[in-house]
Amino acid sequence: MPNIVVLISGNGSNLQAIIDSVQTGAINGRISAVISNKPDVFGLERAAHANIPAIAVDHTQFADRSEFEQALTQTIDQYQPDLVVLAGFMRILSSEFVQHYLGKMLNIHPSLLPKYPGLNTHRRVLENGDKEHGTSVHFVTAELDGGPIIAQRSIHVTADDTEESLQQKIQQQEHQLYPEVVSWFCNGRLQFKDGQAWLDQDPITAS
Ligand code: GAR
Repeated sequence: MPNIVVLISGNGSNLQAIIDSVQTGAINGRISAVISNKPDVFGLERAAHANIPAIAVDHTQFADRSEFEQALTQTIDQYQPDLVVLAGFMRILSSEFVQHYLGKMLNIHPSLLPKYPGLNTHRRVLENGDKEHGTSVHFVTAELDGGPIIAQRSIHVTADDTEESLQQKIQQQEHQLYPEVVSWFCNGRLQFKDGQAWLDQDPITAS
């Protein structure tokens, strides 16, 4: 059964959705560790509650990004993961780190990529008056939020939406989408090949 390590920085609601799907059997894998770069976040409690090793690798305790990433890599690799899932992990990663997990690291990002990489996506959607917004799951490559897109879900933006309401709508979609994509990977249906994402032997192209 594939081994999954989940990296978080906060609340961990996407982590929870993945834990739940492992528990129901919808994901054919096991979460062997949850690692946070922040020590006191609720996501670590969620992991502990599910009897999953919950580990903090506090980035503020290291001299620079490279030392932090070395410690992070060591911690992750102890669990020999087949898949590394970034679920609200808010550190920028070096190309060396990304290379080490290339093809087996996924990220979820709250926008319809390639629109709005980076931070404050909900605010930017409102400022631009977009009528459509969404979330994307992609393989992680060295380009920030720029790896090949695996799947997206969209929502309608209405006149009364705020950053908070958008976040709620988006996360509702994420909690369905992310476990589904993780299950594809665990069932061997999803691959990273020639710089592209493939599902069931077909390249995934923009919809
Ligand atoms: C999620 O909405 C995810 O899309 C976003 O952080 C949130 C984490 O929520 N990720 C990013 O912004 C990555 N750039 P959670 O901790 O409740 O899962």
